[in-house]
Amino acid sequence: MSLRIGDTAPDFTADTTTGPISFHDWIGDEWAFFFSHPADFTPVCTTEMGRTAQLAEAFAARGVKPIGLSTDTVGEHMKWIEDVNDTQHTTLRFPIVADADLKIAKLYDMIHPSESETAAVRSVFIIDPDKKIRLTMTYPMNVGRNFDEILRVCDALQTSDKFKIATPADWVPGQQVIIPPSVTDADATKAFPQGYETIRPYLRKVTL
Ligand code: BEZ
Repeated sequence: MSLRIGDTAPDFTADTTTGPISFHDWIGDEWAFFFSHPADFTPVCTTEMGRTAQLAEAFAARGVKPIGLSTDTVGEHMKWIEDVNDTQHTTLRFPIVADADLKIAKLYDMIHPSESETAAVRSVFIIDPDKKIRLTMTYPMNVGRNFDEILRVCDALQTSDKFKIATPADWVPGQQVIIPPSVTDADATKAFPQGYETIRPYLRKVTL
């Protein structure tokens, strides 16, 4: 069965390029960006790994720890990381899970047999410090992900948790946010003393 938003991310132990991990312990009190890719030494995956490494400071600033997975061994990952660093002009430091027996890929429904019986599709799981899945995305093998969007949803989730708000289409930090319809006007006035804008009774916006 596929994993859904709100589910507890399944725990697992695995070998990775930074040593063995127990997934929940590894996440600790931070957030995790857990993403799978089809195979080592493939072009789209190489650019994605490089981009994630280049964004190390941006992820750290948000308290988000990246961790990759593909159905290859630690030895293969280590050789490939040299290529990623060389071709993408970066230094990859985050762990990549070795899942040659597909155990974790199957646990997270990353194998889509109509695409491949053995290689993972491009799954994304954003997991919070309570180990709850907060976002899932699945990309096909031939489309690289947008890492600005991944950082954006981390910002949106964390802002939403902090202020109990929702975010409108294409929101980026600094823009107005939405007061959820479940919040009464009286409670909104208390929560947002700076005032808010009522465009419709169900569409209220506030600048944080
Ligand atoms: C790639 O990463 O370039 C790739 C991997 C599997 C299928 C298609 C593209």
